[in-house]
Amino acid sequence: MHASPTRGAAVRPRDEIRSQDPVDTPEPSNTAEPVDPEAEVEPGVVVRRRSFFGLCAAALLAPRGPRARLPRPEEEPRLTLDEFLDEVLPVARELRAGLAARPVRAAEDRYLHVLAAHAVRLGDVAVPELRASSQGDGVEIGASWAGDPFVVLHWRLRPGARVSIHAHTYGNVCTVGLEGRAVVRNYETVEPLDTSAEGPVAVRRTAEQVLDPHGINLVPLSHGFCHGLEAGPDGARGLDITTRLGERAPTPYLELDEPAGAPAGAPLRGRWRLE
Ligand SMILES: [Fe+2]
Repeated sequence: MHASPTRGAAVRPRDEIRSQDPVDTPEPSNTAEPVDPEAEVEPGVVVRRRSFFGLCAAALLAPRGPRARLPRPEEEPRLTLDEFLDEVLPVARELRAGLAARPVRAAEDRYLHVLAAHAVRLGDVAVPELRASSQGDGVEIGASWAGDPFVVLHWRLRPGARVSIHAHTYGNVCTVGLEGRAVVRNYETVEPLDTSAEGPVAVRRTAEQVLDPHGINLVPLSHGFCHGLEAGPDGARGLDITTRLGERAPTPYLELDEPAGAPAGAPLRGRWRLE
């Protein structure tokens, strides 16, 4: 709370005032007037003056404690799956209601990034019953939660296991790393997606990242809609938060002839294989 000077009571601009207790305030060093180091300028309002150099010296000589250490990732507070769901479901349902089966990019990106913004706070999630997946040797999958508007799939990759590159045509994904590491690559077709196309199709890689615990990778339907994973030497485990926007359809696998070290966005060729 600030005290207001009464009419006619002169208070120097550099004076700092407050009620009841004295306060410290800088004093001009070239004043010719004798200065009372502490004066009551109004009943109950006391001003104390200190020199500017004195304040600087005090600041320099003040004892400094050790810098606060940032917590390591494993020390940060994390959400349980239930806490995550309580937090994210209301906004996810609202945003999902605005998405078409073929969503526009901005709306879909907003939805997925909102999911991701909550998912980065997730802690570990208990491993549900897993079964072998047809997406690759050493790939297991199960469900941690299913409801509206998404399902939370739980996957585990043995060391070196690969999830074959495939296109998402009716459900987008927010992938969350929980354990280990995997390289994730995302692709899209240069032309509008047509998985019935026979012969080579032009594609490009849109992302390549190492997915580690608390890492996020997004697979929208509107762009970058293919992904494939390759587990590191310790294997990997994570979640696919999958939101179905259209009718179920067979999964198109992309058999790609990708030159080693091809830069992101470079033209590549592949063929579709439907299962
Ligand atoms: Fe997928």
